[in-house]
Amino acid sequence: MADLDDLREGCDFGLGESAGEQGFHVKGALHLPWGMKDRLSRIFNPETGKTVMLAFDHGFIMGPTSGVERIDLNILPLVEYADCLMCTRGILQSTVPPTVNKPICLRSDAGTSILTELNDNVIIDIEDAIRLNVSAMAVMLAIGDSKYEAKTVANLYKAADLGSRYGIPVMGVTAVGKDMARDARYFGLASRICAENGANIVKTYYCDGFEKVVAATPVPVVIAGGKKLPEKEALELCYKAINEGAAGVDMGRNVFQSESPAAMIRAVHAVVHKGYTPEQGYKLFQELK
Ligand code: R5P
Repeated sequence: MADLDDLREGCDFGLGESAGEQGFHVKGALHLPWGMKDRLSRIFNPETGKTVMLAFDHGFIMGPTSGVERIDLNILPLVEYADCLMCTRGILQSTVPPTVNKPICLRSDAGTSILTELNDNVIIDIEDAIRLNVSAMAVMLAIGDSKYEAKTVANLYKAADLGSRYGIPVMGVTAVGKDMARDARYFGLASRICAENGANIVKTYYCDGFEKVVAATPVPVVIAGGKKLPEKEALELCYKAINEGAAGVDMGRNVFQSESPAAMIRAVHAVVHKGYTPEQGYKLFQELK
């Protein structure tokens, strides 16, 4: 029987105060269900709307390249400075302690490696993503690759179907291939195709005319860092991308191949979240390194 002793009548109904419509800080996500928004809010800081994702999934196609030979030694000391970790399930389960309590963007497709031909990929089982409690699934799209375009678009489409069933956002990752131009026309087309097929986040590359890529993509765009640059140039890349509308970075080599990875990710964080200029970011890097 319900305990009716001291049952107090409600009296604080805030009459006259509007319940208020709450907006949402992630582009294109206002109408998504609660679980999706919860996961997106773990990735994108609700105060700044931005994210610094630390990408260390490179081994799944390249093996133990420079900076990811020992995830436990090279990468784990950096995770406290990242907003989100992007890696494969193998590294997550074997090497990343669950106690880090960071949102995970799980690399969710796999197939070929640099030794054969890239992009002949399939997606992992959604149950694995659920078991691992990930906050997003990342799937590569090889737009413009006549052999694998349709297969990778189908991968993204399927991931988006499954992700929406279970409330897990999907990040479309635009591949760059030998024959693909690295310009706003190509990245704009590839990013838009990701979003049209259900991606909730798009990862692409910075290029001239980047603001047009962002404007025509109805979900947040984050940039990959690409090959290692001198630290000041990498911070300039972040600064330009953020100023032209990027919702953050998903950066790997420019962090973990830096002469001081911890200083670099903290400088990137300051540029992304605090509006530091490249000069201020580089000064911070030098102070911290
Ligand atoms: C690309 O598909 C890989 O997944 C990397 O995560 C991505 O390229 C970001 O790493 P980086 O900043 O080294 O380019």
